[in-house]
Amino acid sequence: MLEKVRLHNFKSHKSTEFNFDSSRLYALVGKNSSGKTSVLQALHYLSRLASSPLKNIFQYERSPQFLTTIGEKDMFVTASGFWGYTNRQNWEASYSWRQQNTNSWNPTVSWKIDRNEGSLKGWEASLSQSAHPIPISLRHTVHLKLVASNLAKATYSDEVTPRVEFDGSGLAPTLDFLRDEAPDKFQELQEMLKRVVPGVREVGIRRAKVAVNRQRSIEVNGKFISYEETQEMTGQEVVLDMNTGERIPAHAISEGTMLTLGLLAVLMNPTQPNLVLLDDVEQGLHPKAQRELMTVFKEIIQINKNLQIIFSTHSPYIVDELVPSQVYILNNTNSGFTISKRLDEHPDVEWAKQTLTTGEFWDAEGEDWVVAGEVSG
Ligand SMILES: Nc1ncnc2c1ncn2[C@@H]1O[C@H](COP(=O)(O)OP(=O)(O)OP(=O)(O)O)[C@@H](O)[C@H]1O
Ligand SMILES: [Mg+2]
Repeated sequence: MLEKVRLHNFKSHKSTEFNFDSSRLYALVGKNSSGKTSVLQALHYLSRLASSPLKNIFQYERSPQFLTTIGEKDMFVTASGFWGYTNRQNWEASYSWRQQNTNSWNPTVSWKIDRNEGSLKGWEASLSQSAHPIPISLRHTVHLKLVASNLAKATYSDEVTPRVEFDGSGLAPTLDFLRDEAPDKFQELQEMLKRVVPGVREVGIRRAKVAVNRQRSIEVNGKFISYEETQEMTGQEVVLDMNTGERIPAHAISEGTMLTLGLLAVLMNPTQPNLVLLDDVEQGLHPKAQRELMTVFKEIIQINKNLQIIFSTHSPYIVDELVPSQVYILNNTNSGFTISKRLDEHPDVEWAKQTLTTGEFWDAEGEDWVVAGEVSG
């Protein structure tokens, strides 16, 4: 469970801190380019470090310079939290790097579990070498920016447990797996989808032809030459029974319906994630559907005690379903760097709670109060 995240010189975040309460559902709001997606990215990288070395995530020396605030020579991302409600273990995990000279960056991964500390240097380092609570807290993280057209695509998967990818591909095999392995969860997912998009009757999956690109190689005079071959395979696609007709293929289904179905497939998966990072959560959804989606999120969080959801949004309807302590307002200083405050840090919050909805409060106050009095820099 995440409790605190600190970003230092990570893109537009010179020094930002987020403290998460026990509600396990949090929104990041703020103008375009205020640094919301960057927060999700920083956490996504940290979670990937739970199973992969730095070099797989940052590709040696290529990305540090893009992720570090331009002109700065060091960067760190630190998260702390705990695992276990009865046998609570506190942990802290971070990745950092420092520039040696123009092309050389020195990376470090470090961690603390209760009182034991550890760190590893170099691009081979990862958090998977740290003890129990850190990998288990971070490994089951999902980061999504779903694209409706990818969700709708017919897909072939030879994975034992297929899953929805960052961009939404892989939905049909994931749903098929869910229907076979956890029919009760599939049923629940269907009921939740119907609440957000009332026109839906039933979710189906059918077989479909899919063109799959495969890498092949042949040996010519002792040398291996690789080439790509397109093969037609039998995959799967989503079909929905709607109130307007049956077995409507996914590509003809509305975007908001597909996006909601994608989110629910991730959240209701038998290997449930612990941390879900969602970029632009309301995309394609009608205000009523946005509110219903939040209600569904709250229910899913109640069922899964280890789940936290952090999302970015531009929608006051989404924010309306939260209380001020769940909303993080991001804004830029004059020089463009990110400052963040929780909406409950606003001086008028007690008055607002009795008078306005959370979305109205945000709408009325905007983001300028977050940087008021800040010396730019
Ligand atoms: N290396 C860097 N150094 C300084 N600033 C950077 C660096 N990389 C990116 N940025 C800034 O961070 C911004 C990216 O912010 P981000 O994508 O997190 O915004 P966002 O709040 O998600 O915006 P939107 O609502 O438009 O999606 C860029 O627009 C750029 O100004
Ligand atoms: Mg963004």
